[in-house]
Amino acid sequence: MKIEIKKGSRRIVFLIGKKVYKIPNIFGWVSFIRGIEENLEERYWWSADGSRKREPKRKWNYNLPLAEIHYADRFGFLLIVERLETDFFIDENTISFNRRYKVLEDLQKLKERVRGFQFANDIKFSNIGYKGDKLLLLDYGYFGGTRDCYIGT
Ligand SMILES: Nc1ncnc2c1ncn2[C@@H]1O[C@H](COP(=O)(O)OP(=O)(O)O)[C@@H](O)[C@H]1O
Ligand SMILES: [Mg+2]
Repeated sequence: MKIEIKKGSRRIVFLIGKKVYKIPNIFGWVSFIRGIEENLEERYWWSADGSRKREPKRKWNYNLPLAEIHYADRFGFLLIVERLETDFFIDENTISFNRRYKVLEDLQKLKERVRGFQFANDIKFSNIGYKGDKLLLLDYGYFGGTRDCYIGT
């Protein structure tokens, strides 16, 4: 099976089949700690009220445009998430021409829906993806977290 690996600023992501596996970036101390924090922040959406842990078969029912988490460990080492399509994305400033209009329009709506949440401050092309024709956030771990200077080197 084909395995793709992508590096975000704080996490390393393995894309395998229909799922992605997110681990903290092991190549830098600060990004490692922040990767853990952000995995835990995303875990909040999976288990904060304990409902999915008590009832694992319960459906993902957040009324927010977030990629669904299938599993998240309590240490922030691993997150298993549904894979979204990101083929429109070329780099942080460029998206593919044929989908440009739709992506920009959907992105505007997405921003309006998540206004006020911490992760709304980290919306960019590399943090969004499509599930069918729905645009969702695939990175919603941002919350500020421990300041880099307190993490040390
Ligand atoms: N659910 C997903 N579906 C498809 N690609 C993903 C998914 N999650 C992450 N990726 C890819 O991995 C990259 C890094 O993941 P991300 O969660 O943004 O990590 P970081 O917090 O380090 O920015 C993303 O820019 C995207 O290309
Ligand atoms: Mg990201």
